[in-house]
Amino acid sequence: MPIDTNQEKMNIMDNQQGLVVAGATLLVATIAFIKILLRSGSSAGKRLPPTIRTSPVVGGLIRFMRGPIPMIREEYTRLGSVFTASILGRKITFLVGPEVSEHFFNGYESELSQREVYRLTVPIFGPGVVYDVDYPVRMEQVQMFNCVLRGNKLRGFVGQMVLEVEEYFSKWGESGTVDLKSELEQLIILTASRCLLGREVRENLFDDVAPLFHDLCTGMQPISFIFPYLPIPAHRRRDRARARLGEIFSTIIKSRKASGRSEEEDMLQFLIDSKYKDGRNTTEEEITGLLITTVFGGFQTSSIASTWTGAYLLQLKQFFATAVEEQIQVMKRHGDRTDYDVVSEMHFLHRCIKEALRLQPPIPMLLRQSHCDFTVTTKEGKEFDIPKGHMVASPLAFANRLPHIYSNPDSYDPDRFAPGREEDKAAGAFSYMSFGGGRHGCLGEAFAFLEIKTIWMHLLRNFELELVSPFPEKDESTAIVGIQGAVIVKYKRRKLVISS
Ligand code: HEM
Repeated sequence: MPIDTNQEKMNIMDNQQGLVVAGATLLVATIAFIKILLRSGSSAGKRLPPTIRTSPVVGGLIRFMRGPIPMIREEYTRLGSVFTASILGRKITFLVGPEVSEHFFNGYESELSQREVYRLTVPIFGPGVVYDVDYPVRMEQVQMFNCVLRGNKLRGFVGQMVLEVEEYFSKWGESGTVDLKSELEQLIILTASRCLLGREVRENLFDDVAPLFHDLCTGMQPISFIFPYLPIPAHRRRDRARARLGEIFSTIIKSRKASGRSEEEDMLQFLIDSKYKDGRNTTEEEITGLLITTVFGGFQTSSIASTWTGAYLLQLKQFFATAVEEQIQVMKRHGDRTDYDVVSEMHFLHRCIKEALRLQPPIPMLLRQSHCDFTVTTKEGKEFDIPKGHMVASPLAFANRLPHIYSNPDSYDPDRFAPGREEDKAAGAFSYMSFGGGRHGCLGEAFAFLEIKTIWMHLLRNFELELVSPFPEKDESTAIVGIQGAVIVKYKRRKLVISS
């Protein structure tokens, strides 16, 4: 067959052009694919944290539910201070210790937010407040908390706390046996009612309100983190309690507004009188939600902290003796005066509470949702990129016991915070994490210390105490880690004698 050489040349050129086009197309496609991968947050080019070993799908969840702290301890030893776990298809990156926690605590809300992880609080706190509203409104509400819990009002609360504590313990006999845990729970809710919820609740409605708060607290189950509206009995009780609290506070607020009286010194009145920046008044629904938020934030945490403080002091008698001696010295200086300034001088007692909270933080882990990639540098100088979309966890119960920060980290030693040692500052601002820190650190920390110090000041001055039950174990079955069973204590009245 004759060959048309021109045609042949054209065919060869076509083939070559085809190859070039195909090659170019492949190159462009490859570049585009890489770009898409990078844009979609894939691992390409990133220094991702190591991942923990689990079997697929629910493996991470099973290990996590068996106990997050043992899992974190094991992986920290194996992988270091930054690692990722896959739990029910979600990636959770753990940042362990102060060196890698700066961004966690100080990142902007647009970069690392709380709203998604705390949505389980919406049915508890109610609509229109805190994690149910946009960030700027939440910040105005946080500012309202700030004024009550950190400002001058705090000084005035001490007098009310002292009255409540004296009245409560006056009902104890000359000697007896009590469950310290349940006693302190009742006392803390009474004090919170007096200082925060107001006279009406404290004097007339306490027996109605206290069980409603109990139902709100038990309505926060581990499952609520994933399914906050699951129709389980605990959630139904929570919703009924929240609705009833709404009715009670609505009646009180209406009656206070109608009477025109505003001389009350409690948080309720402060919130009634508060306005937003645009001049709008707080609504009944918001006032109720903000009150519930405050009591909820402080009730369980403070009663757990006061019981642990007692358990350690009664178990380790040398510290009990030092705490009593401090009271004697304070009484020598101030007699029976017990105001804000006097309570603030009880530095050893403060350290005892702080140390109990280091070892037994009621909130063992904090969470955030990341909306931007960010980089952390470990103390060994390794850099990791945490991708947008990860949930980020700060396991503070573990971080509070890191041996490069705390000497003998598992032992109770209040003087580790004393001047000269100050182990809680050894690795910077986030060495001690029981109250969180940075942008969303606990607003009730000062209130909690005053409340717990007032209780223990009274007990140390007026009672001999002995722990009868074994040293308590922690209860990790609830979202806020409490104390298992009763803490049985024998008491006998005795007054501290001050020799001149
Ligand atoms: C021993 C007692 C307490 C402990 C251990 C504790 C612990 C904490 C922790 C760890 C956080 C940070 C949460 C996070 O970053 O996600 C926090 C926040 C908060 N706490 Fe406390 N708390 C205690 C007592 C109180 C009390 C008594 C109140 C109120 C009367 C209170 C009100 C708050 C509020 C309003 C926030 C939110 C702050 C914000 O988001 O800006 N807390 N608390």
